[in-house]
Amino acid sequence: MAQLWGGRFTGNINEMAFSFNASITFDRRFLEVDVRGSKAHAMMLAKQGIITEDEKDSIVKGLDEILSDVQEGKLLITEEYEDIHSFLEANLIKRIGDAGKKVHTGRSRNDQVALDMRLYTRDEVLRMADLLRNMLDTLLDLMKKNLHTYMPGFTHLQKAQPVTLSHHLGAYFEMFKRDLLRMKDIYERMNYCPLGAGALAGTTYPLDRDYTAELLDFYGPTLNSMDSVSDRDYLIEFMAALSTVMMHLSRFSEEVIIWNSNEYHFVEIDDAYSTGSSIMPQKKNPDIAELVRGKTGRVYGDLISLLTTMKGIPLAYNKDMQEDKEAAFDAMDTSSDCLILFTDMLRTLKFNSSAMEKSATMGFTNATDAADYLVNKGMPFRDAHTVIGRLVLYCIDKGCAIDDLSIQELKGFSEMFEGDVFDAISLKTCVEKRLTTGAPSPAAVQKTIDINEEFLKNLRSDKDIETRRKRK
Ligand code: ARG
Repeated sequence: MAQLWGGRFTGNINEMAFSFNASITFDRRFLEVDVRGSKAHAMMLAKQGIITEDEKDSIVKGLDEILSDVQEGKLLITEEYEDIHSFLEANLIKRIGDAGKKVHTGRSRNDQVALDMRLYTRDEVLRMADLLRNMLDTLLDLMKKNLHTYMPGFTHLQKAQPVTLSHHLGAYFEMFKRDLLRMKDIYERMNYCPLGAGALAGTTYPLDRDYTAELLDFYGPTLNSMDSVSDRDYLIEFMAALSTVMMHLSRFSEEVIIWNSNEYHFVEIDDAYSTGSSIMPQKKNPDIAELVRGKTGRVYGDLISLLTTMKGIPLAYNKDMQEDKEAAFDAMDTSSDCLILFTDMLRTLKFNSSAMEKSATMGFTNATDAADYLVNKGMPFRDAHTVIGRLVLYCIDKGCAIDDLSIQELKGFSEMFEGDVFDAISLKTCVEKRLTTGAPSPAAVQKTIDINEEFLKNLRSDKDIETRRKRK
């Protein structure tokens, strides 16, 4: 049990209490960010004359060597250390001696861990933005290819009005676009450096917090030392945004599961993303989609767990906050795995356009348009609604679509029906006449595609948030 304190203690910590208190099993993933932060801190200490240039050089070299030794498997992170910070400091001292004992000057593990969490999360926010961009690319590509793939649009999971696959997928484009913009928002708000806040009240050393912030690509230092060590708002925001991403993925999964059912047969999932049954040879199950749907609850749970942890914590740092990590890492890992897999599954999904179109023709999805036809001939809408309602009942009885009736049969319901009705209520007309912005006609969807293509292009030329970070 290697500890960072000792002077004040005469007895040893209970073994179980040590493990209970330790975080090394999960904060070991901070190794790289802890090295980054410690190097920046040492450089600032040297610039301020708090340590010498030589001491700084050996600290930087020592930290780099520890990092590469761990990465190459030459050095193991073991549970004899309480956390990653203790592991690094102990090993640094082992390697470089007294200079290593100076790295923690003017720093507390409270601002150190606050920095690590922020650096780690900032990388994850950028990674999530990238994954969302891949999803948007995939969706836009499918949208371009399916402007004329007709399918039923649903409300209450009942066929409502015809749309196109392009239009349907476009709804998900808007959802994931908002998710991506949320990542940018979070980034803007979180990109301030807590290092230098000390345990809670800053330090008496003449630290240059602007300099460390700059070295670590932050916009600047945080402005209140107590808030700096006890703020996890950005993490909560990120986990809430991840929960929303998962909610979108889960809705999409539910649709893929329904579309993949024997009854619908709208899609076929590629073999790479489906599984079989150990007993029923005919089965091809949408397990990936089901798991994405299932894991959504887990990410919500992670968010609620952190919110609950934070709600009773008085200022400033309290050990409860160590509980942020496992939940946050789980939410990050789960969401990114789900997004990667779902995007790949979507890219390889085969759409059965004839089944989709057939389904759109069969469910009276043109009933509204049939009523509108009568309205255009002069009938008040409410009366037209009733006439078409009766007509639908008649068709259900006969087992046919409105389009299958003869003009004589139609005239039996209203004298206003004429030969032009068939064209007016055809699937093609129903979709193509919906021309307003955001509507399903190929012309309207094309306009949306153009706007969204521009959105993705600007995102790219901006090289996204990464370059704006450097620029600010
Ligand atoms: N492992 C701790 C955490 O994750 C690091 C900070 C420890 N600070 C302290 N005062 N015990 O929060």
